Amino acid sequence: LILVLDFGSQTSQLITRRVREQNVFSQLARPNLSAERIKELNPKGIILSGGPASVYGEDAPQADPEIFNLGIPILGICYGMQLVCDSQGCEVKSGESREFGRTPCTVSDHTNLFSGVPTNFVAWMSHGDQVQNLSEHFTSLASTETCQFAAVKHHSKPFFGLQFHPEVTHTEFGGMLLSNFVQKVCGCEGTWRISNLIEQEIESIRERVGDKRVICGLSGGVDSSVVAALLYRAIGSQLSCIFVDNGLLRKGEADEVSHRFGEHFQTDLHVVDAQEMFLSELAGVSDPQEKRKIIGRLFIEVFQKEAKSIENAQFLAQGTLYPDVIESGANPDGPAATIKSHHNVGGLPEQLGFELIEPLRELFKDEVREMGHELGLPDDLIYRHPFPGPGLAVRCLGEVTEERLKVLREADLIVIDELHKANLYRKTKQAFAVLLPIRSVGVMGDGRTYEDVAAIRAVETDDFMTANWSPLPHEVLERMSTRITNNVRGINRVVYDISSKPPSTIEWE
Ligand code: XMP
Repeated sequence: LILVLDFGSQTSQLITRRVREQNVFSQLARPNLSAERIKELNPKGIILSGGPASVYGEDAPQADPEIFNLGIPILGICYGMQLVCDSQGCEVKSGESREFGRTPCTVSDHTNLFSGVPTNFVAWMSHGDQVQNLSEHFTSLASTETCQFAAVKHHSKPFFGLQFHPEVTHTEFGGMLLSNFVQKVCGCEGTWRISNLIEQEIESIRERVGDKRVICGLSGGVDSSVVAALLYRAIGSQLSCIFVDNGLLRKGEADEVSHRFGEHFQTDLHVVDAQEMFLSELAGVSDPQEKRKIIGRLFIEVFQKEAKSIENAQFLAQGTLYPDVIESGANPDGPAATIKSHHNVGGLPEQLGFELIEPLRELFKDEVREMGHELGLPDDLIYRHPFPGPGLAVRCLGEVTEERLKVLREADLIVIDELHKANLYRKTKQAFAVLLPIRSVGVMGDGRTYEDVAAIRAVETDDFMTANWSPLPHEVLERMSTRITNNVRGINRVVYDISSKPPSTIEWE
């Protein structure tokens, strides 16, 4: 285990990800986790992340000073480096010039951390403060034009500091630096694999569940499918799955989920057809938050009713991921909660009376995909774009009606089909059609038309918290537009959404 203490940098999570890429397990923890608790967790190394504060600021978050007496190797990054140096008697000051962006860096010591890194490389800097004077215990390992101590090490203790950010891809050889720290300095062997984790999870699920049943809600997306596949491997036919057809799914989706299920699992599947109920409660509602509330409430009602009909069920399995755990502040050792950018309508409240099983709690999305792959799920399911819990209701702007959903489904299918044909589905992380609540004038043959407008949305993103609009080739956009206006009755105009997040969101509602 490599523990990453989070001092509030935007890239703290990224550090844990990069360490895991070295096949070493890593977790994010709150900055002031006590040295005693750290000792219990027994990590092979500690990384102190960057952060927005100044070590001399009034509210500067501090680490427990005892962590420097545990004998555990420590790597400080940016603010983390300033903390390490400050604690060991070096002087940290506001730099004469702030350094931001790509910065040429020169290495003067190629042992340990910089083993294999060339003398000149480009590092990503983002700091105002920097270490001004080293105490006699430290030496410099690398420098930039304005930062004499871009990297430092302690003479006798296993402490290192990097003023730049090795975790971001803009830093050349950043992966090598982190790998040198975890392997050469901390002595991690790099044996952590998803397949080990699968075995561990299976054992712990079997032990917990005994002869009881486990219910798993399926959505058709990758997370719930991986949870189901893992549980199926652990407890076979003691698994019952529930799939709620809320009438807000894409074309053919409900059939596809059932069909797929039959291919992979020989166990109980409850498909609940609640289309009418959802659509009748949504009738006349056009406010986005109101729609979400109705859908969330109905989902819980429908799910609960079905779950109660399943005998001997004591557990509910959910696909909660590591970023959700971090963002919700649910882990007592983890960082405090941050504002969650969306409301997971698929999430079920604890009052349902089941014990929760969350086998993906330690995993990032790409690790979930790897697990899905190991469990034998097909690639097209593993790489499926995310689809929001409230479904097409938040893409059918204004009132949601059966007819409008039908129009939207046809347009959406064309967008996705053309993306696949252009081999851009994987590169684009989420894409869909949106049906706008306005009509515009068009011309068809000799006649004037007055019909709906569809927008195409396609984004590229790593984490869905920020996203750039995809620069789809004009030919692809043209094929989408022509097919939609020619084949989808009711749409005479197609526009392309060229807004990034922020300030826009990915969904339109
Ligand atoms: P936004 O629109 O907030 O979306 O930029 C970010 C990601 O979250 C998904 N999303 C939702 N997922 N329930 C969900 O389960 C919701 O209410 C919801 N709203 C947005 C969105 O599809 C994107 O992947």
